[in-house]
Amino acid sequence: MASSGFQLLKRTLGNRSTAARFFSSVSSTPIRATLFPGDGIGPEIAESVKQIFKAADVPIEWEEHYVGTEIDPRTQSFLTWESLESVRQNRVGLKGPMATPIGKGHRSLNLTLRKELNLYANVRPCYSLPGYKTRYDNVNLITIRENTEGEYSGLEHQVVRGVVESLKIITRQASLRVAEYAFHYAKEHGRERVSAIHKANIMQKTDGLFLKCCREVAEKYPDIKYEEVVIDNCCMMLVKNPALFDVLVMPNLYGDIISDLCAGLVGGLGLTPSCNIGEGGIALAESIHGSAPDIAGKNLANPTALPMIGVSMLRHLNIHDKADHIQNAILNTIAEGRYPTADLGGKAKTTEFTNAIIDHL
Ligand code: NAI
Repeated sequence: MASSGFQLLKRTLGNRSTAARFFSSVSSTPIRATLFPGDGIGPEIAESVKQIFKAADVPIEWEEHYVGTEIDPRTQSFLTWESLESVRQNRVGLKGPMATPIGKGHRSLNLTLRKELNLYANVRPCYSLPGYKTRYDNVNLITIRENTEGEYSGLEHQVVRGVVESLKIITRQASLRVAEYAFHYAKEHGRERVSAIHKANIMQKTDGLFLKCCREVAEKYPDIKYEEVVIDNCCMMLVKNPALFDVLVMPNLYGDIISDLCAGLVGGLGLTPSCNIGEGGIALAESIHGSAPDIAGKNLANPTALPMIGVSMLRHLNIHDKADHIQNAILNTIAEGRYPTADLGGKAKTTEFTNAIIDHL
């Protein structure tokens, strides 16, 4: 399992990312990257990343930004304009989890980042990790989620008392853009198939338009197989046999749910990397688990996801030697199985796990 798992990972992560061209001339001068440690366990796992990167001599200079305590009128959220400018200028960033108070009437921090930075696609590679046994050994798929509209357009209102309405917006522009990204990704990464996930049999206009756009783009990529799968059937197929899928592209809400389902297939949210792609080559890599308030500040968080995400960020920056080095150290630490944190059924502390990764560098 271990060696085939490593092969699988190499195929998944080893290729150059689409946006690597923006950073093709990396020298020994440090690269500035924005770091949002985030809330809850965020600062603890961000500390792990900083220590691991430092120990591995990675030429990254972090520009740290924290979520503010007051709403910035320029962003209408707790994220400041300066934080957003930092990502715009550095064009690359790493983001820990950010807590969103439910129903408090202000804009979600994640939504603010997506909208303000036009992060139109969310990409999550999901692959079986060598050394971490789950129900399947052969998961190797990529979910690509439209990130800016659909059910998450934020257009909700009360029609009359007791009746509320939420608008699902699908546009040709955003659908073509994410479909193009999915096919381009498939081509660049040697993937064979793109599946568009939908419910166009019921939502004929919205999902119908999404599919129409996917079909248009598919025609430009004759070497990549294209198929359409209804969301409910997709869920059933994924849990029965995830090897049936390669690259999945879908509107926002389906992507939110399916990408977490896929994370569950390979060990959960604490182990899965994710990257938001924006126009102009912006890449904001992020943890997909939340701020875990129940274990925050207790040194209990599994720090795997954020360094793994940092590895994706390094690949995006074309720093492949350091990426390989850190990735192998993480995988070897997991495979060794000496420091499982509580979510993996063990008792190890965040700092112990981090030190073990550093020892494997
Ligand atoms: P959560 O992911 O924070 O926690 C769910 C469960 O998973 C908890 O039992 C937690 O202890 C555990 N968990 C999560 N990450 C872990 C890690 N690295 N190591 C070990 N255990 C881990 O989800 P929840 O409770 O729904 O959300 C809490 C807050 O996080 C909310 O304010 C939510 O809005 C926010 N959130 C932020 C996200 C982001 O910034 N990308 C994503 C999901 C939630």
